[in-house]
Amino acid sequence: MNQKQWDSLADHYHDEIISPYYAGVKNPLFSELKKIKDKKKKSVAEFGCGMLYLGSYLSEEFKTVHASDFSSEMVRKAKKSSSGFPNISIKKEDITKLPHSSAFDVVLSINSLLMPSFEQVKLGLQNLYKSLKKGGSCFLIVPSMESVLYHNMLMLDKELHAKEEKNAVRAAKRKTDHDRYDYFLGHYKDASERQKFFYEHEIRFFLKQCGFTDIKIKKVIYPWGEASGDYQDFPDEDPLWDWFVSCRK
Ligand SMILES: C[S@@+](CC[C@H](N)C(=O)[O-])C[C@H]1O[C@@H](n2cnc3c(N)ncnc32)[C@H](O)[C@@H]1O
Repeated sequence: MNQKQWDSLADHYHDEIISPYYAGVKNPLFSELKKIKDKKKKSVAEFGCGMLYLGSYLSEEFKTVHASDFSSEMVRKAKKSSSGFPNISIKKEDITKLPHSSAFDVVLSINSLLMPSFEQVKLGLQNLYKSLKKGGSCFLIVPSMESVLYHNMLMLDKELHAKEEKNAVRAAKRKTDHDRYDYFLGHYKDASERQKFFYEHEIRFFLKQCGFTDIKIKKVIYPWGEASGDYQDFPDEDPLWDWFVSCRK
């Protein structure tokens, strides 16, 4: 989605977006941030901060907080929500054009590397790398393509209980919006919007190419129900997930 599309989403963000901060979501981010020593002497940056849900938490834990987003509306809302925190500075910035060099001890991108272009994703990750100080830590959350494929399988299995295979496959594809996914590029497409979903192997490949080391990948786990958005529930099966990534410069 482009800046304008994110601008227009700012007012009904909660209706549209599945968030790793919703109640019940198992998000490794906080336990990973806890492990960082001497945070009160350190700087953190969140790129693609949206409304800056992490604002008060980061402000209390770190010496300084830089936050930015390419959507003017998101920046406006982030500024409003963090006006009482003097160590937070918020700017309009595009992840693919960041000006920072060895500036931060910790950088975060939480579901903001969503651009459909392979090259733009790489550029975004290179910029996160460049923004980090040597030895610094980077944490990412990105949508998981494998989670979508897993849900497709659950849907097909359900259809197979009631239909012969050919019809079950057809029904499962229809019910999972199969036509809207490009499994080669890892895209979800809806009208004029395209959003990137990541395969685990892509994450490792991109990060290694940028120079990141100590790459570890875990899951952000979304319980079935409201936290999983419009996906049909399978309460007896393992839930859906985003990828949580930690790595270092
Ligand atoms: C799903 S929201 C996540 C917001 C926030 N990180 C959170 O977790 O609540 C994605 C955000 O990334 C921003 N974004 C998308 N592409 C961007 C880019 N190229 N540069 C900067 N921000 C971007 C959008 O404007 C939006 O605010």
